[in-house]
Amino acid sequence: MVGQKTALKDDAASGTRPAPPCTLVIFGAGGDLTKRLLMPSLYNLAGAGLLPDGFSILGVDHSDGTDDSLRENLTRTMEEFSKDPTSEFHADHIDAKSWGFVRDRLHYLKGDFEKPETFAAVKAKVQGSAVFYCAVAARFFGTIVDGLGAAGLLKESDGTFRRVVIEKPFGSDLASAEDLDARILKQADEKQFYRIDHFLGKETVQSIMAFRFANGLLEPVWRREYIDSVQITAAETVGVEERGGFYEPTGALRDMVPNHMFQLLCMVAMEPPNSFGAEAVRSEKAKLAQAVKPIPPADAVRGQYTAGTSEGRDVPAYRDEPHVAKDSVTETFVALKLHIENWRWAGVPFYVRTGKRMTERRTEIAVLFKPAPFKLFEDTPNADLAPTVMRITIDPDHGVNTEFNVKVPGPEMKIGRVRTAFKYSDFFPNRPNVGYETLLYDCMTGDATLFQRADNIEAGWAAVDPLLKGWPQADVAFYPAGSAGPKEADDLLARDGRHWLGLDGATD
Ligand code: BG6
Repeated sequence: MVGQKTALKDDAASGTRPAPPCTLVIFGAGGDLTKRLLMPSLYNLAGAGLLPDGFSILGVDHSDGTDDSLRENLTRTMEEFSKDPTSEFHADHIDAKSWGFVRDRLHYLKGDFEKPETFAAVKAKVQGSAVFYCAVAARFFGTIVDGLGAAGLLKESDGTFRRVVIEKPFGSDLASAEDLDARILKQADEKQFYRIDHFLGKETVQSIMAFRFANGLLEPVWRREYIDSVQITAAETVGVEERGGFYEPTGALRDMVPNHMFQLLCMVAMEPPNSFGAEAVRSEKAKLAQAVKPIPPADAVRGQYTAGTSEGRDVPAYRDEPHVAKDSVTETFVALKLHIENWRWAGVPFYVRTGKRMTERRTEIAVLFKPAPFKLFEDTPNADLAPTVMRITIDPDHGVNTEFNVKVPGPEMKIGRVRTAFKYSDFFPNRPNVGYETLLYDCMTGDATLFQRADNIEAGWAAVDPLLKGWPQADVAFYPAGSAGPKEADDLLARDGRHWLGLDGATD
């Protein structure tokens, strides 16, 4: 993990040495992911001195192009994105040395992912170690791995490595994820596959492990005896933007829950691993995901945004977005309750919600503690004390907020609600980061800790399988853009005598 040579490692990759020499082959070199995230990440890695001299990039895509045109196009998009306030990449200027390092190593190959000639041409250009990055639509994942395997490009020999990075979505349900796993594992070993979930590249997600396991204060209370419930939220203000074509058959559940939300769930609820080695961590995460009871449709709500106001401007309904059907019942919001059937968490509900076009952008895990046992305040005006809440925030601020009750100064015993707020940026310098640096570096150094193993992915799909199968198509609750989601989501918690914490992050 870049710049994190702390306790979160137990293998050779220290995070401060350049990665070993290799070729990064990007299938989908003309795509959005390459421009928006992979190039800025490589630029940041070059700036940090973490790319080796023997590094090169081969971009493969179906349109005409040359090494020079690829270099020109990507130089232009780097400039554009650095100035675009909505992009993940922010820079006052592009450092000529760092970008020059990346740009001069870019090469282009025109090729159809369905044709063996493409892979023969890749083979002619790749010697030694290589990382093959599938930055393409999900329907090509299996095709590309088959092509690489058939061309002999996945054979590792003489100390060289051949690795394949696969983006999400990995499958669209349990059966298709199992099929894709079976298909790719015919071509190479599990250890050669790096299944990406970009939430694992977020610094705070990684730091949840450190927060939980490096603090004795938390260890004894992180369990069913002391925790009432947990709320995991990923609320976005953006709509579906130009991605209607992808989103229509996908929806919020497939897009966010078995992958991103389950990664947060695993981090907050997994058992301590025996070490920070990749297999130790991934085994604990898979074990936790496998303990999630399949979620019945009665414990879930799906919503879709209608027209409304978002961040001060009028925005259209989901059904009026480009490439979306006028009568679409695809969900843009999902809320659900899940249970983890193991000793630590039996009986503790985990509430999960995610949606587009909500009031605020907020990604967080909130842990709500049980009340103190002796109702000392029963006969006072303070009888209903709010629980102690620990909010691990991921976006927009990275930090931990704790909300608890204190005595208001004065003659009477009056209770007031207060909060301590810790922000990473108050203690540690910001490092240039668009979120893929760590993942790319780890893949090149062979550290799979932050990548998903097949069993983890399949367990996520298994948990949501009853929802995908059983949700009647028409059962979608509407919410206005710019709101906190449909009323039905509030009812889901009200049935249990609970409520969602506010999306503005204010003290509950
Ligand atoms: C992506 C989803 O995987 O994650 C998007 O496809 C979503 O729909 C995005 O907007 C959220 O990621 P982040 O990092 O912006 O919270």
